[in-house]
Order: sequence, then structure tokens, then C-alpha cells
Amino acid sequence: MIISYLPPLSLYIHFPWCVKKCPYCDFNSHSVKQKIPESAYIDALLLDLEQQLPSVWGRSISSIFIGGGTPSLMTAEGLDRLLCGVRARMPFLADTEVTMEANPGTFEAEKFVDFYAAGINRLSIGVQSFSDTMLRKLGRIHSAEEAIKAFHIARDAGFNNINIDLMYGLPGQSIEQALQDLSSAIKLSPEHLSWYQLTLEPNTLFASQPPKQMPVEDSLIDFSDSGIAHLAENDYQRYEISAFSKNAKKSMLA
Ligand SMILES: C[S@@+](CC[C@H](N)C(=O)[O-])C[C@H]1O[C@@H](n2cnc3c(N)ncnc32)[C@H](O)[C@@H]1O
Ligand code: SF4
Repeated sequence: MIISYLPPLSLYIHFPWCVKKCPYCDFNSHSVKQKIPESAYIDALLLDLEQQLPSVWGRSISSIFIGGGTPSLMTAEGLDRLLCGVRARMPFLADTEVTMEANPGTFEAEKFVDFYAAGINRLSIGVQSFSDTMLRKLGRIHSAEEAIKAFHIARDAGFNNINIDLMYGLPGQSIEQALQDLSSAIKLSPEHLSWYQLTLEPNTLFASQPPKQMPVEDSLIDFSDSGIAHLAENDYQRYEISAFSKNAKKSMLA
């Protein structure tokens, strides 16, 4: 008798729409022109999975990351149908981590309770900065206050595993301001922090029209060193280039 053990798989599901395209972002994300064709898109995702099944027979899923774009624009009903559809096609391990990227806009946060009920057990909230001045420069559609509120709504909804995305090296930002952003995030005590250096990616608005006062290249290592030290002092251990976790709450996909 041949007994084979096939390792579990991580599944990434992409949702390519956003309320508005951010000027620095080169992800496959597009501003919503009219109505998102959610139902047709979910049908297409499930068909795609179905067609891949012969190559993953016998495998389980240990983590799912629903990224974007802004998947929190999805309706709770749509998300429920999507996750039920995946579950019907592939077995999940008992402790499967199911992450959704969420925008801190009020409208999305209102849906966090339903997202939790549908099976999302980890949220990744794209805060970027706790400074309204920086958020405006980044073309974000939410304020710092809304981001803090969204975090609390997520906790109240039951999420005990939350990531906050922040960026540093922002236009006109000092190291002290970047550390202040980290302190504001640490105060909320998320289980996970992603701290990215803002990069000017080709084919973005920032690449063709770079913002004034970008930090000089040589200073970025000082941002990075100071931030990593500040995070370590507050029990956030670095386990990937931009990923930090508290109490070993690492994620398979940040
Ligand atoms: C695909 S985005 C999705 C998050 C969500 N749509 C939002 O913006 O709130 C994932 C993360 O990538 C980071 N990111 C995007 N563009 C970046 C850039 N040019 N440089 C550094 N980080 C970037 C941001 O921190 C963002 O939250
Ligand atoms: S950073 Fe997030 S919200 Fe902004 S365009 Fe990219 S995916 Fe969309």
C-alpha cells in the first residue's frame, strides 16, 4: 500500500476593484466605474478553481488570502457564496487562516460583522499613515480617525487576528513622523504589522509626477533601522522584509 502525504495549499483570491486608484499603487486594481460585476466575477472565480481541481486532488487548504484591490467592497452575501463555493470544492484544515484586505472607509467597516460570520478570521487593514496630511498626499479616501474606528469595529466584530498596513518614506515625512505612525499602530495592539517603504513604481501617477519632498535615498535606511528597533522594543518581531508579528502570530501571506 502506498501512503502519500501531500502538503496543504495556500489559496490567493484577487478582487481587482477599488473606490479610487491610489497614485502610488501598481497592483492590479481599478477604480469602480459603474457597478462591480460581483456575481459574474464570483462565478468566474469558482469556475477557475473548478478547472484547477485535477491538479490539486488530495490537497487541503491551510490559508486563504483575499487581496486586491479592495475586497472589502464585496457584499457579505457575495463573500459568503465565494467561501462556501471554495469549501464545497476543497477541504479546509481545522485552523485555516482566512484573511481579507480591507479599506478603513466607514462603509466597509460596517460589513466587518458579516465578513466574520462568513468565515473571514483575519483582517488586513490598509491604514498607510495616521497623519491626515500624509493620507491626503497619498490620495487615500479615509481619515486617520476612520482608520482607528475601523480597527475598533473589527475587534468588536470578533477579529482576534488583525494586520495593519503602514508605509514609510512618505512625501515630506521625517523619521520622527514615521515612528509616530508606528506608535499609533502599536497603541491599537494589532497582532501583525506590515511596514512598507513607499516605492515609486513604474506606470503609476507618482512615477510620472513624483511628489515633492520625497525622502532622499540615503535616509531610508535610517527610517528602516529606527522603525525595526521601535517595533522590537514593543514586542513586534520581524519575520520577513516588511512583516512584523506579536506573540508569533505570523501569517502565511501577510
Ligand atoms: C494591494 S494593497 C491592498 C490594500 C487595500 N486596498 C488598501 O489600500 O487599503 C496592499 C498594501 O500594499 C502597500 N502598497 C501599495 N503600493 C505600494 C507602494 N508603491 N509602495 C509601498 N507599499 C505599497 C500598501 O501598504 C497597501 O496597503
Ligand atoms: S493601495 Fe489599495 S486602495 Fe489604493 S489603489 Fe492600491 S489596492 Fe486600491
